[in-house]
Amino acid sequence: MTRKGIILAGGKGTRLWPLTKYINKHLLNIYDKPLIYYPLSTLMLSGIRDILLISSKTDIELFKNLLGSGEKLGIKITYKIQNKPNGIAEAFIIGKKFIGNDPCCLILGDNFFYGSNFSEILFESNGSKENNIFLFYSNEPNNYAVCKFDNKNKLIDIKEKPKKFISNWIVTGLYFFNNDVIKYAQKLKPSKRNELEITDITRIYLKMKKLKFTKLNRGFMWMDNGTHRNLNETSNFVKSIQEKQYTIIGCLEEVAYRMNFISKSNLLKSIKKIPNSNIKKYIKSIINE
Ligand code: TTP
Repeated sequence: MTRKGIILAGGKGTRLWPLTKYINKHLLNIYDKPLIYYPLSTLMLSGIRDILLISSKTDIELFKNLLGSGEKLGIKITYKIQNKPNGIAEAFIIGKKFIGNDPCCLILGDNFFYGSNFSEILFESNGSKENNIFLFYSNEPNNYAVCKFDNKNKLIDIKEKPKKFISNWIVTGLYFFNNDVIKYAQKLKPSKRNELEITDITRIYLKMKKLKFTKLNRGFMWMDNGTHRNLNETSNFVKSIQEKQYTIIGCLEEVAYRMNFISKSNLLKSIKKIPNSNIKKYIKSIINE
């Protein structure tokens, strides 16, 4: 069983208007590269090589132009259309054929993750048979799906955008699920806002006691980039780390090379096509390490 990966890159992008009037949110830049590079690199760091990208009919060609078949990165990217933003859980219905009989991992295309040991955490999740979600300690929890714990720190409920304070732990947009997620997604009814809710899926697993969670600890950075403020903050974060440490976050060629998806000679071949730029200089420096 090889886990399949899905990136969801549709949606309305209302909060980013007017930018999203002419460009898909996931193609906007986080500092020096398109937003979509970061969740894609997260999937790759998990060891996932078979990836489905879902977006709207009008935008899907833009992603194809940007990422192609994935061959240069030693991965396979296929594309499917979501006709309308019918909700995050619809990804498992659109991706039914693609997932086949395998387990899967869904990442929201606007999610940014960065922290030490994250590759190990991801790799472990990919190899595990358990359903796993990732929790982040937020000081603005009520805009998200929020976790309720009992006094023994056991997860007992997940509430979507609660009105009252429950806890600071929110559910991020990265989900490792077993194959039965397709069955549960197909049974979902649209919510009041007329969407198939991912929180309903996590609640189903929670009820069956089949949901594990990983708390992303202090020092970890997570951001959903749905607002101008967050886009700006993540950009500044990436800029700081990159400048201070001479590293590049979300460099797809580097991840492919370090994960052994591509050989040194393949990397050399692919950088020949990259115009002279910071990223080219950086990739060259990795090869010469
Ligand atoms: P949201 O941020 O909840 O929604 P949005 O992107 O439409 O933005 P806004 O609320 O400002 O209108 O979406 C979270 C992520 O999931 C984002 O990367 C877009 C994606 N998404 C889809 O691809 N299809 C969907 O049907 C939904 C609801 C979201």
